[in-house]
Amino acid sequence: MPISTSIKEKRNGRPTNDAKPVRRVFIKSFGCQMNVYDSQRMADVAGREGYEEATKVEDADLIVLNTCHIRERASEKIYSELGKIRELKDDRANAGRETTLVVAGCVAQAEGAEILRRQPAVDIVVGPQNYHRLPQLLRARRRGVGAVETEFPLEDKFDHLPASAPEAIRARGVSAFVAVQEGCDKFCSFCVVPYTRGGEASRPAAKVLAEIERLARAGVGEITLIGQNVNAYHGRGEDGRSASLAELIAAAAKVPGVLRLRYATSHPNDMSDDLIRAHRDIDALAPYLHLPIQSGSDRVLSAMNRRHTVRDYLGLVARVRRARPDIALSSDFIVGFPGESEADFNETLALAREVEFASSYAFKYSARPGTPAAEMEPQIDEATKAERLAALFGLLEEQRLAFNRRLIGRRFDVVFDKPGRRAGQIIGRSPYMQSVYAEGDLSLIGALAAVEIVGVGPNSLIGRLVAPASREMGLIARFAGRSPT
Ligand code: SAH
Ligand code: SF4
Ligand code: F3S
Repeated sequence: MPISTSIKEKRNGRPTNDAKPVRRVFIKSFGCQMNVYDSQRMADVAGREGYEEATKVEDADLIVLNTCHIRERASEKIYSELGKIRELKDDRANAGRETTLVVAGCVAQAEGAEILRRQPAVDIVVGPQNYHRLPQLLRARRRGVGAVETEFPLEDKFDHLPASAPEAIRARGVSAFVAVQEGCDKFCSFCVVPYTRGGEASRPAAKVLAEIERLARAGVGEITLIGQNVNAYHGRGEDGRSASLAELIAAAAKVPGVLRLRYATSHPNDMSDDLIRAHRDIDALAPYLHLPIQSGSDRVLSAMNRRHTVRDYLGLVARVRRARPDIALSSDFIVGFPGESEADFNETLALAREVEFASSYAFKYSARPGTPAAEMEPQIDEATKAERLAALFGLLEEQRLAFNRRLIGRRFDVVFDKPGRRAGQIIGRSPYMQSVYAEGDLSLIGALAAVEIVGVGPNSLIGRLVAPASREMGLIARFAGRSPT
């Protein structure tokens, strides 16, 4: 119900109509793909509780911030957001509307009740392992009881979360995430994830496949299997034995309607032979691998507790490229880790030059309370971090643009997902993750269509629809690692 109606209700002293007001929910997601996925699942929970999705935060009776704790800036941003929502909540209260404010996600898990102390407008704090308990928490809140829920319960939250309704799936488009595992046991010395998401746990393959079938039936063609350490997946297989990610991908590729599969994020130490072979053998698996290395210096990698060397990583890259020559690689880097010298940083630049990434993320190291690296000496000053970030970012940008330029003349399949701004234009995603613009019929949305790349912009590719690439063409591209044309 729009706010203006409620103001009228209050002025008249009686409701303008007898219909039960519609309650609306607004969920804002920060951080990684897992949070995007979790936000959708929370929207499903709220839907079951009778909430419709609000398009504007002002219209929402229930506001959920799904937060990220990975770097200091990410978690501090939440408090400024909460300040703004507090004002909104006050305005709505003056208009006779109640608003429930929920903080979910990794800041909720890490800071718990501290959030209520810093921002009393918050009603509920709920950690990532407790989203299935939202209905109880909301009911308690209606009785005037706020709550902090940050336990790691024994029950599997995924078993208790409702499946998405077909209309909700369709409204979210033709690409979807499916969580296959959560949590991390690696304890990289800089990272909060093992503390906020808990230990590594995989969902049974049958559950994941049922979710994929449901999505595909509702028209989702592109599925990204996600997890904090997705290639450590070891869920119960359909035969009762433990299944690997490669086995799960092979089964998912057989689901009718699944056009393309991706997975993220992988750790180099879990990149098994069968997963590398899957890139050679499974047509639906996109030739794209996000494989964070973090640093190009063995000394820094060891202090980071990454448990692999630069040589291990380069060996892995060579094996992956042998299996699938046209694969695009991307990585995450941290600059200014405690003790990182100029020489260490130059090794990171050298590693990036050697691998030639298609696209990557680079971050300034951010000390996180409670992690071992926060106590390491010497911490690197802000100016040096900024300088190193700019240098690395410049190199990664050059590599990204060079990769895009090399695609001119190439033909591949694009999953089209939305209309463009201009009439007659449609937008999709290449196997390598760039947006592709083409002139084409709206009926292609949701389909896989062959495209030849005729131009590149800074953030996208321009394609021309062509007759479907033949199987041979695909094979030539795969083994030659360059344009079949
Ligand atoms: N599970 C994934 C993603 C972890 S978070 C993985 O292992 O790769 C995403 C990225 O954030 C990390 O790869 C890392 O580059 C960065 N990151 C994590 N902690 C950080 C910190 N304390 N400071 C700066 N960047 C960090
Ligand atoms: Fe964090 Fe390392 Fe686990 Fe990735 S592998 S989530 S960087 S602890
Ligand atoms: Fe952030 Fe938590 Fe994801 S800290 S990156 S939202 S796992």
